[in-house]
Amino acid sequence: MDDYERPLFFHLMKYAAEADRDVVDMVSGNPDWEPPEALRTGLKTYADGTPDEFQYPPSDGLVELRAEIAQRHDVDVERVVVTNGAGEANYLAMATALEAFGGDKIAMATPVYPYYHKRTEMLDATATFVPSEPDGTLDSDAVREVVSEDTAAIVINSPNNPTGGVYGRETKRDLVAIAEECDALLVSDEVYDRFVYDEEAFETALGFDSANVAVTNAFSKSMAITGFRVGYGIYPDHLTDAIRTRHMLVNVAGSRPAQRAVLDALRETPESYYERNRQLLDERIEAFCAALDRAGAEYARPRGGFYVMARFDGHPGTLDNTERLIDEAGVAGMPGDAFGDSHAEWFRFAVVTPRAEEAAERLAAHFGR
Ligand SMILES: Cc1ncc(COP(=O)(O)O)c(C=O)c1O
Repeated sequence: MDDYERPLFFHLMKYAAEADRDVVDMVSGNPDWEPPEALRTGLKTYADGTPDEFQYPPSDGLVELRAEIAQRHDVDVERVVVTNGAGEANYLAMATALEAFGGDKIAMATPVYPYYHKRTEMLDATATFVPSEPDGTLDSDAVREVVSEDTAAIVINSPNNPTGGVYGRETKRDLVAIAEECDALLVSDEVYDRFVYDEEAFETALGFDSANVAVTNAFSKSMAITGFRVGYGIYPDHLTDAIRTRHMLVNVAGSRPAQRAVLDALRETPESYYERNRQLLDERIEAFCAALDRAGAEYARPRGGFYVMARFDGHPGTLDNTERLIDEAGVAGMPGDAFGDSHAEWFRFAVVTPRAEEAAERLAAHFGR
């Protein structure tokens, strides 16, 4: 259980903070920009509320918040359950799929967001892995090869952490069809849907009307509030009772002040807020990738999300080498082997720091030829 007791990124952030030199921290996916103004105002207003407003909210989330989410996604509000971040929304989908669809296997892409396969292990199920394409996309034929009647769920994430790949309409359509064919739940984690740099690339799985699709999301990244823990799942009708029960028995309910502030922010935040942050990240990625060129690194420019994976000749992405990069170059990333064996040679850098360009210059100077 080492990974649970002391997750790698806490170790690396601590290692970076205690280094003898200045280090640019590109380890974790914590946004570094302002939350929406209406969120701060909403919280302040909440603090002056009456005592009854400090009591349990409905277990599946504030009614107005669920309605706002349902309206934005054009789905029946009964399908929406507000969760403790996208993390819980994914857990509910995976655990319920194992019960409702039968089978003990969960398919997922590599490199993999570590919580997917660790959670699969926790649920006493077996993860089956599909290698991503070099540009971070997923070949649906490759998915077909790993699924079977033992597959209870296929968990996908687009825009992707860690690759930055974005799955288009055709891939999503094929994945929905595969889930239907093998009687599994397609869990489409869309937590980075506000960070797409190639306008045409992204397609939500909600675009396909299917009893085999669950979409998970959160405000953690889009509103820069990973500490608030407000996410949601949009589940197929036949699973919502089981999901609500599991959510309630695990959590009782979510946090009322956080949900209330998110509701205010959802209603009042202009599109320009999201656009500004998307642009900021796009520019950082551009500068970071340009410096990676100068460093002679191999990488695929992300089409979404806020992570860049890179590989440097002769310097594979092990934990030891990650620590060396901190000590010798002053840049902290994540070792690629944290995301499975397929990218053990690589590093992942999160561009959620105003110093991303400076970090890239350091990498260029360290590895540059
Ligand atoms: C792919 C993916 N899904 C889910 C999460 C967790 O989201 P939340 O903080 O809303 O639980 C993350 C966080 O980094 C993520 O990268």
